[in-house]
Amino acid sequence: MKKKIEDYLKEVEAFRAEKLEQLEQFRIEFLSKKGKIPALFNDFRNVDPTDRKEVGQLINNLKTAVQEKIVALKDQLEESTQSKGSDMDLTLPPNVTLGTRHPLSIVRNEIIEIFARIGFSVSEGPEIEDDFHNFSALNFPKDHPARDMQDTFFIEKDPDIALRTHTSSVQIRVMQSTQPPIRTVLPGRVFRNEAISARAHCIFHQVEGLCVDTDVSFADLKQTLFYFAKELFGEDTKTRFRPSYFPFTEPSAEMDISCNICGGKGCNICKYTGWVEILGCGMVDPFVLDSCNIDSKKYTGYAFGMGIERITMLKYQINDLRLFFENDLRFLEQFKSAY
Ligand code: PHE
Repeated sequence: MKKKIEDYLKEVEAFRAEKLEQLEQFRIEFLSKKGKIPALFNDFRNVDPTDRKEVGQLINNLKTAVQEKIVALKDQLEESTQSKGSDMDLTLPPNVTLGTRHPLSIVRNEIIEIFARIGFSVSEGPEIEDDFHNFSALNFPKDHPARDMQDTFFIEKDPDIALRTHTSSVQIRVMQSTQPPIRTVLPGRVFRNEAISARAHCIFHQVEGLCVDTDVSFADLKQTLFYFAKELFGEDTKTRFRPSYFPFTEPSAEMDISCNICGGKGCNICKYTGWVEILGCGMVDPFVLDSCNIDSKKYTGYAFGMGIERITMLKYQINDLRLFFENDLRFLEQFKSAY
């Protein structure tokens, strides 16, 4: 029996564990009910009374040795798994490349922000529109060429459902649902059936502006756009208005700004005129107000609409519109902004 105990002791001393599971196996082998140590205590009954004291002590020593071994190995194993974790530096910033806003979003947000400072809210409308909102209510005659398949992506015929060709459709939705005073900008994506080139795309973005109230005049329109141009392109920017035509405004105009590239001296961007066109505008035609149940005898209004791509190209001197849609990171990563 003594020999057996001595062998067990050697076994315990030599025991090594790499995993907690091995240690648990070891504990079961020695200490569980059917383990080696309870078995020794069982046999103890048959030990000669003269040897009892000594053998009892040996078994107790063995039991303590097993328990100490378990505690020691357990600590060791837990420490080593923790030390593996501590190689990680949790103070390091996560290894991700931060994205930047798309240049069109930057400029759209900046435009909205400039108008928000003088009391304009933001309204949005659907990209799929019916004939009434995109054309009829805006005073487009039935045979107007803009309704032709050449320009409009129709989805259904009779009744006509199409991808909106301009954000002016949202003017109608706003006026149908709100009585004046109205002061709002309408940003959104628009669609036209155009061949893709450096200057045109079949999908592009506009921001429309609409102001309807009592006593709104063309002077209010001019002053608002004058303020806008200076805020967006800089204090030295000059503006000029040229007469134009839109079915839904009367009178209508197009606004040019002094070329922000050459400062008006003449360059290939402004085609050596010193001026670049940035938007269309005018006084809301009374027909349009009446189509939306707004009393055109009581109220007047102005509207304007601009292409975000065009403004962004001028602001950042980008010479090909297709760059906005290619998702080339070398292009996109150059735009960092507060907006
Ligand atoms: N909707 C016109 C366009 O897409 C722009 C415009 C808007 C003109 C509002 C006048 C008033 O060309």
